[in-house]
Amino acid sequence: MPRLASVDGVITPADEARIPVTDHGLLRGDGVFEVVRLYGGRPFAVDDHLARMALSAENLRLPFDGAALRADLDALLAASDGGDGNVRLVVTRGGRRLVIAEPMTSQPASIAVGLVEHAPVRTLDGIKSLSYASNMLASRLAQERGFDEAVLTTPHGRLLEGPTQSFFYVLGGELCTPPLSDHVLDSITRRRVLEVVAVRERPTSREEVERFEEAFLASTTREVVPIHRIEQHELPGGGARTAQAARALRERIEAELAGT
Ligand SMILES: Cc1ncc(COP(=O)(O)O)c(C=O)c1O
Repeated sequence: MPRLASVDGVITPADEARIPVTDHGLLRGDGVFEVVRLYGGRPFAVDDHLARMALSAENLRLPFDGAALRADLDALLAASDGGDGNVRLVVTRGGRRLVIAEPMTSQPASIAVGLVEHAPVRTLDGIKSLSYASNMLASRLAQERGFDEAVLTTPHGRLLEGPTQSFFYVLGGELCTPPLSDHVLDSITRRRVLEVVAVRERPTSREEVERFEEAFLASTTREVVPIHRIEQHELPGGGARTAQAARALRERIEAELAGT
């Protein structure tokens, strides 16, 4: 079965879905998006994603019809084969509603990350906008230096998050993550991890990296991804605290899916 996409509620094979080239979502990255994980065809935390998307749209002064997008999503899922994967939701300045089925993100058992300086535009704070070129570039810059992925830092060296993942680290036996006041995304996975294991919200910087005992990235598409190296600092790549967080998150996901 081909991958499917919906444009304003019209479902076609994803390769055949089209929007006008004049859409400022394409020309200027002016629009909002979310990526929802599908477990056996069932969307996880879809209400949270739609709520965050509505907030992104409001902050971007973008018209947003959440009910129509939800109906598009339900129709696409009904027409799909019910497997594991992701679904991308997009609303553009040109007024297009897109729902695109995507395959599972492939993932190694653990990754090496490089630190990449990043100065996000403050006016886009808290907006999951289509202007993600800087995040995508950060991954490429880290890969050019031989790492699997980037961890973004401020120009002053504070560690923030991955280009599309939240960042967690263990210091002095305590699981920590940068606070939202450091202008990291209010990630839906991050929220869940904070609910299921003890986590201290605490800023951190380049200087502390050599004292980290464990670290991982977390996101909708990948859940928990253990880190085995940050720059030159070697880590266990899945220590006890990382394994505990991964297990507790998975249990929480299964419990939520069973309740829906
Ligand atoms: C910058 C950034 N941080 C963190 C995340 C993880 O967020 P979530 O758990 O909601 O997928 C994402 C997801 O795309 C992101 O773009």
